[in-house]
Amino acid sequence: ARLVVLVSGSGTNLQALLDARAGQPAPDYEIVAVGADRGGIAGLERAERAGIPTYVCRVRDFATREEWDAALAGETAAHAPDLVVSAGFMKIVGPRFLELFGGRLINTHPALLPSFPGAHGVRDALAYGAKVTGCTVHFVDDGVDTGPVIAQRAVEVLDADYTDGGAALHERIKEVERRLLVEVVERLARDGCTFEGPDMRRVRLGH
Ligand code: GRF
Repeated sequence: ARLVVLVSGSGTNLQALLDARAGQPAPDYEIVAVGADRGGIAGLERAERAGIPTYVCRVRDFATREEWDAALAGETAAHAPDLVVSAGFMKIVGPRFLELFGGRLINTHPALLPSFPGAHGVRDALAYGAKVTGCTVHFVDDGVDTGPVIAQRAVEVLDADYTDGGAALHERIKEVERRLLVEVVERLARDGCTFEGPDMRRVRLGH
């Protein structure tokens, strides 16, 4: 499967997807491009080191959000992806992007959705006093972190986590998240998925 990965920061989820392919004779997926909403980030350097084409679409370079959304969709479509993976991409894509990639666009989020959606899932779980949090890989729909859940994994919250604003907790979540994302991408690339259940939200990986 042809993958485009969208990043906004350090790109360690992207790196996990790159590392999982290394050394595989017939990998289930290939990362054909990496897109970002800003330049000068480690995620883009990781792509460049791997010889993967990159593109940057900054919101501020466009007169309207809709034009940014259309440009991001166009740049992404140019690489003819089978699956688009938002891996730490910190912008909400719009109608044009969803029109082109809805249903084959997934996101990874560092909390157990529907708890703690949005840009501060780790901090919000700590602030709430949650004892267990974790990560979620889900299909992106027109909401914020509201699409059908594909996979989740739990991570314990420790007393020590309250002393550093969630940095250690987010690192522990990211270790789990990277493995979960690779597992989900490999299964989707290899076997696809089916939606089951009366409201068509229950995702079954593979046939
Ligand atoms: C990940 O935990 C992702 O879920 C969240 O931001 C983090 C990005 O990490 N949105 P990286 O850029 O993949 O290292």
